[in-house]
Amino acid sequence: MARRAIYPGTFDPLTNGHVDIIARGCQLFDEVIVALLVNPGKSPMFTVPERVEILNQVLTPRFPQVRIETFEGLLVDYCRQREVNAIIRGVRSFKDYEYELPMVLMNRRLNPDVETVLLVASEDNSYVSSSLIKEVFNLGGSIDGLVPDLVIERMRQKQ
Ligand code: COA
Repeated sequence: MARRAIYPGTFDPLTNGHVDIIARGCQLFDEVIVALLVNPGKSPMFTVPERVEILNQVLTPRFPQVRIETFEGLLVDYCRQREVNAIIRGVRSFKDYEYELPMVLMNRRLNPDVETVLLVASEDNSYVSSSLIKEVFNLGGSIDGLVPDLVIERMRQKQ
């Protein structure tokens, strides 16, 4: 049976840190569903269709076993719906671990059949976050090497 996992997130924008976690996930699972959370609470830089397009253009040529999808509502319900019993999350630091732990436990309580797999991010990307990328870019700093080139191109088009 194919081993499948869901890698959920906002991806506003996709960073090389996310790509690193996806690459690691692809070593462990036959199929990785990159699931973009449609979150009305956040005011994103890129719309959902724009983020899906970026994810597709960057990830599909590089990772044949990746599928891009969107979801709303509870992550564990989405896992049930897609018949997936593993969630991938990237951990850069203790702070991420503290952020992830209650979600892991809550998700386990909501659906004990779903296991969360925490993957440690590469050192190179350990300080990268989507908000920091946007802040540095908007203030004119270089984000070269921290996000895929396509993301820089799309961010320039937003200016
Ligand atoms: N490299 C670089 N950056 C990383 C990273 C990595 N390896 N891992 C996380 N990040 C960053 C992201 O860029 C993002 O930065 P930002 O806050 O500056 O935008 C931040 O860490 C966390 O974002 P993300 O991984 O996209 O997660 P999220 O916090 O937006 O969403 C969900 C987390 C989608 C898993 C969670 O909100 C969820 O499950 N929602 C559905 C509703 C639900 O089920 N709720 C109950 C949960 S128990």
